[in-house]
Amino acid sequence: MDNIVINGGRKLNGEVKISGAKNAVLPVMAAALLTNGTCVIKNVPCLDDVSVMVSVLQELSVRVSWHNDILRLDCSQVSPVAPSPEILGRIRASNLILGPLLGRFKEAEIGACGGCSIGSRPMDLHFAALEALGAKILPLEAGYFAFVKSLRGAEIHLAFPSVGATENLLMAAALAEGTTVLHNAAAEPEIADLAAFINAMGGRISGAGSNIITIEGVKKLNGAEFTVMPDRIETGTLLLAGAMCGGRLYLKGARFEHNTALLDAMRQAGINFTYNKPGDSAYIEVQSAGGRPWPLPQIVTASYPGFPTDMQPQLTAMLCLAQGRSSVCERIFENRLTFVNELKKMGAAIQAHDNCAIIDGVARLHGAVVRAPDLRAGAALALAGLAAQGCTVIEQAEYIDRGYEDFVEKLCSLGADISRQSKFNTVVCGKPAAAFRLVV
Ligand code: UD1
Repeated sequence: MDNIVINGGRKLNGEVKISGAKNAVLPVMAAALLTNGTCVIKNVPCLDDVSVMVSVLQELSVRVSWHNDILRLDCSQVSPVAPSPEILGRIRASNLILGPLLGRFKEAEIGACGGCSIGSRPMDLHFAALEALGAKILPLEAGYFAFVKSLRGAEIHLAFPSVGATENLLMAAALAEGTTVLHNAAAEPEIADLAAFINAMGGRISGAGSNIITIEGVKKLNGAEFTVMPDRIETGTLLLAGAMCGGRLYLKGARFEHNTALLDAMRQAGINFTYNKPGDSAYIEVQSAGGRPWPLPQIVTASYPGFPTDMQPQLTAMLCLAQGRSSVCERIFENRLTFVNELKKMGAAIQAHDNCAIIDGVARLHGAVVRAPDLRAGAALALAGLAAQGCTVIEQAEYIDRGYEDFVEKLCSLGADISRQSKFNTVVCGKPAAAFRLVV
């Protein structure tokens, strides 16, 4: 167990490159199972969740090589055995092997999948969509067995635009007989990335990135090369770091069009930024004098293009310093405000009821020992720590490693006083770094 230690109050300045998106690379890796060829995936972030997904694929006999940010997946020997429950249980996205295994092998046995404890996260929408293609799902003691004689395209209406259910359906339907039309599909940019990858493999998917996706099944998919999109949640987290700490941050590769809900909220909060449209020179630059933001009276998380649930904790952290009362309601997951009690330890004035936080901005936060309850909440506590006076220790910091590549290193390069320390060493804030076994 590692801690992240932050001596807050430093301005942040400089340039960082946004890494490849966690939520895009995981489904793309799963989609490689659709082919018996070799896929080369570029711009792969070095994250714990990606390492776990590599292990899941290896359990299925994918031959993997991973050098720098390039993953090579040779899927010629894949067999649809049940991966070890211990590995599956480490991330939620391991459930994304269901669609491709069903598409290619017509069967999949999958144990219970894990992930952050932000809600119950059932699989009913995944199952309903796949059953509409003809699949049968049998519950097992832990997990389930899915099988089908032949998948047939169908007209499907998702009861809710679930990201994972849309992805599983896209992958299964890519190898079904006939055409599938998915209504009320999730429209997240990561879905468009997945569809672009499947199309690069020879698939025929149109409409991904909108709420209606058409998938014309093909008989076979080939290996392909693909570059993963930049991470919009890392982008958003760093934008808010810049806004909270003051200074000027240039986020190379950051895509304006993927972050409109957050940027609208930042504009309303009085935070200045500039950006360049897509292409090789895409960037977003945030510039802040470090003054307190305006409060935001009504932030409600919603499916894309609404305000992303994965940015809710970080925005809540920023609003702790606003000049007045804000309200943030979480409507995607039922257990995503547990970090509020940790922010209170740092002097935040927040009340949480019915999945909504009422935040009375304070002039400053102070350092404290806090515990990251999950990935994005961990990032929110880090933002609060960067802006706070004094020293903050974030326990269970390994949650942050699940979704942020080089989190500590990137913030260090921008001028933050932040370090990672092994749990086995005593943490004494303010002591020289040499006193600790630094992992960075
Ligand atoms: C993905 C993202 C996650 C993000 C979330 C919402 C990945 C790897 N993870 O998660 O970071 O927070 O989208 O943007 O891409 N639901 C059901 N039944 C289902 C499926 C989902 O009730 O069968 C519910 C979930 O419990 C949750 C909501 O729908 O309350 C959204 O879930 P979903 O969109 O499926 O999120 P994930 O794909 O798990």
